[in-house]
Amino acid sequence: MKTFKLVVVSCLLSFCVSGLIWSQGNIPHLKKQANGITQLIVEGKPFLMLSGELGNSTATDLSALDGIFSNLRSRNLNTVLVPITWEHIEPQEGKFEFEKLDGLIAAARRNNIKLVILWFGSWKNTYSSYIPEWVKRDSRRFPRVIMRNGEPTERLTPLNENNMKADSKAYAAVMKHIKEIDVTRTVLMMQVQNEVGVIPEPRDFSPQANAAFNGPVPEKLMSYMVQNADILEPEVFGAWVAAGKKTSGTWPEVFGKIPLTDCLFMAWYYAVYIGDQCKAGKAEYNIPMFTNAALIRPNYLPGQYNSGGPLPHSMDIYRVGGPDIDFISPDIYFANYAYWGGRYSSPRKGNPLFVPETAAGATGAANALYSFGQLDAIGFSPFGIERRGAPAGAAGPGAQGFGGGGTDPLVNAYAVIDYLSDEILARQGNRELMASIVLEGRDQRYGRIEFGGYNIRVEWSGSAETNNRVGILFLKMAEDEFLITGSGASQLRFLPGTVSDRAVIGIASIDEQVLDNGNWVWKRRLNGDQSGQGQVLNISTPSVIYKVRLYRY
Ligand code: DGJ
Repeated sequence: MKTFKLVVVSCLLSFCVSGLIWSQGNIPHLKKQANGITQLIVEGKPFLMLSGELGNSTATDLSALDGIFSNLRSRNLNTVLVPITWEHIEPQEGKFEFEKLDGLIAAARRNNIKLVILWFGSWKNTYSSYIPEWVKRDSRRFPRVIMRNGEPTERLTPLNENNMKADSKAYAAVMKHIKEIDVTRTVLMMQVQNEVGVIPEPRDFSPQANAAFNGPVPEKLMSYMVQNADILEPEVFGAWVAAGKKTSGTWPEVFGKIPLTDCLFMAWYYAVYIGDQCKAGKAEYNIPMFTNAALIRPNYLPGQYNSGGPLPHSMDIYRVGGPDIDFISPDIYFANYAYWGGRYSSPRKGNPLFVPETAAGATGAANALYSFGQLDAIGFSPFGIERRGAPAGAAGPGAQGFGGGGTDPLVNAYAVIDYLSDEILARQGNRELMASIVLEGRDQRYGRIEFGGYNIRVEWSGSAETNNRVGILFLKMAEDEFLITGSGASQLRFLPGTVSDRAVIGIASIDEQVLDNGNWVWKRRLNGDQSGQGQVLNISTPSVIYKVRLYRY
């Protein structure tokens, strides 16, 4: 009997311990891989978030979520970005309400879709419109950003401890609650705040902010700059050198009396504030946390753009000021996607690319292929996804469908990326085995990429009416054998890898794989007119994967 009890107890114990290990290991987290890139690990494996972000108010109506989530799932999304707000969570000080959060997680779980939750706390698009009324009404206790003329703006200042502690407390309560209820690990990551920064002034001009601006640059930041001078973002390095590369001094002394200095100063305080929140949240439940940026229009100055936001030139400042912020992210609505995406994909600073807001459609399809194939992205997420491509006259959540009948090229691009995801994830960070190119529509008609020992020339071949961009993803499967998929009309020619290589490259074969009733099947061998008599690979929609075999003569 004694032995039996002992066996039962030790079985129970090992069950509990392995259960604990299983659930801890199962928590979504970021992992820096041996080749230096960072990937998101979900259920123990690297994961690509094929996502979209809901419009700001959509999820406040919980009854709409099942229809929307099931529709998005059927359109090949595996993750949705959805806000929850401080005003809903803490309507009265110290009294937390989780009904909306519970409903959101339950709906996502029912529809087998993962979530990235956006914490609309102190700031949403620079404003403080989502703070609870008890915070809004007490600006003595919760002070605002002050303009040069002494007037307050509708934005909490990040330089105030009361603001920071009150928001951190609510955010920590949210993370504690998610940990308690999210046993299936539906929530993958948290976005903390949304597009922070100061507008229309370049910085806070309150007496406290003026004193800090004319006080010393924090020692932590100074010593990071001195030790990492060779990897500082170019704007910061340039300003520092132009101002005499001082190792201490006030903000204008160290960075110069230039507009950028205001932006860097505010960036430090936003980073400290959001970093403090991430730390408080992680103490409850440690999943990846990031914050997102509205980008800069050409020739805009701080204050015209969100001054102090997590912009690429402030990446170092966010790293040092908010070490618990895992990474910063861009909302890319501009045409020069490759430039902005590239600035946020920084393996050496441990900043993986995740694009929480961007375009869908043909542009999105091309950019998604480029992001995962060239910029080692962990996720891609067009904004207002539930309203994309709704057929004319559609009614009800199901009919609001992303892709309106599956015709949005991004629906197909997500299907392809999903199917190839293991191959993509295994090759991220390895340009020899995977690469991608993007042509920005009619403005950029040709591109050339060195890949797998070849030079591949890509030519835009859209019609006069279309201005679609082209994005192409290449995977090397074996010597001289590639899987290629793309979005946007284009023609590919294969050339020798070096100028001195006099060989001629021939196409041995092109076979196409397509989605047929939910299964990927090999269909046609492309010869004759379909491949320019064996001279080119023609690409149009992102619903085909081509196996291309090359040879030399
Ligand atoms: C960017 C914001 O981050 C979103 O929440 C939303 O307001 C969009 N702009 C609207 O285009």
